[in-house]
Amino acid sequence: MSLPSDLHRLADYQRHAQACLPEDVWQHIQEGNGHDGVPDADRMALDAISFVPRRLVDLRGGSTVIDLLGQRHASPILLAPVAYQRLAHPEGEMATIRAATAMGVSMVLSTLSSVTLEEVAQAGREAARELGRSLRPHWFQLYLQPSREMSLSLVRRAEEAGYQSIVLTVDAAVKRAGFPLPPGVEAANLRGVAPARQVTGHEAILLGTPLAEQAPRWEDLAWLRAQTSLPLVIKGLVAPQDGRMAADMGADAIILSNHGGRVLDSMPAALDMLAPMRAAVGAAMPLLVDGGIRSGSDVVKALAMGAQGVLVGRPQMHALAVGGLAGVAHMLHMLRAELELAMAQLGCPRVAAITGECLMRP
Ligand code: FNR
Repeated sequence: MSLPSDLHRLADYQRHAQACLPEDVWQHIQEGNGHDGVPDADRMALDAISFVPRRLVDLRGGSTVIDLLGQRHASPILLAPVAYQRLAHPEGEMATIRAATAMGVSMVLSTLSSVTLEEVAQAGREAARELGRSLRPHWFQLYLQPSREMSLSLVRRAEEAGYQSIVLTVDAAVKRAGFPLPPGVEAANLRGVAPARQVTGHEAILLGTPLAEQAPRWEDLAWLRAQTSLPLVIKGLVAPQDGRMAADMGADAIILSNHGGRVLDSMPAALDMLAPMRAAVGAAMPLLVDGGIRSGSDVVKALAMGAQGVLVGRPQMHALAVGGLAGVAHMLHMLRAELELAMAQLGCPRVAAITGECLMRP
């Protein structure tokens, strides 16, 4: 598959992706309370920031490397968990992990991946071997299942397959009815497991049905913490009080996120919650953000606002749709090149140099 010649920014992948995908799949990917697949709050928060570059800075020996959760990452950019990637390309997550491995980027694999977590991990290992690269620390995203036994079996499988952190997503247990999957696309990790039953009737719409009754609670987080020695990252926290509780229960990092505007309307941009969250959890807790990160400057803005890393979601699906493995690798290459350019132009040769002093906010 050859890539179109006019792919210069992540937005170009998005533009081409629409023509490569069935309309209902395109709508499903872009769904969310904003424009062009980015919630208005996220876009406004990013656009409101301007840079105050420093000049004549010594750029020698610069690098994008960061240490996170005791792991070395080539840059502060990770791939957000995005379900059912075979909707966008027949190779789905297999293409994404190979591209991520080639580009030295860590992938967070969704519970709802359309290829099993073992096959994805194996593909990552093989790609690293073929390329003569060290394997990146890939993470597994967990949706708690109706039974603890099932949740635990996913955690054990992820541990055995070599995933290096568990990312517990806590903001999407209760959401609108899902997208009907086309033939050939399934939740491969959950084969044989009945989905949570939703009962509707005049006496029970949502509250009182199994979906709400079985929704995860704080005691489930405490339980999960006791089950694994892998770093535990909580994704989808917004309220500082929740960050404090997660920290008290032993969470190792937090991903501030509004789930791409796909769950609750009118949520703030994760970026705007960084400062209050930091105040609540203290200086040591790694905070990551996602939502609308579409360029190297967006990455720098998030870091300067206090994040230790960022995740990109929809651009994976756009790049998969347009170019499969090559598309995702090229998309990640562009993002990394833009990040390095923005760092150099700002006068920040290392990630640690990116601070609030680089910015002006209204
Ligand atoms: C998601 N997201 C998501 N999050 C999660 O924790 N588990 C999942 O399985 C999924 N699945 C998923 C599918 C699709 C099609 C989209 C668009 C998003 C949310 C994702 O990780 C991220 O929080 C948002 O996409 C915001 O980032 P972007 O898309 O603005 O970069």
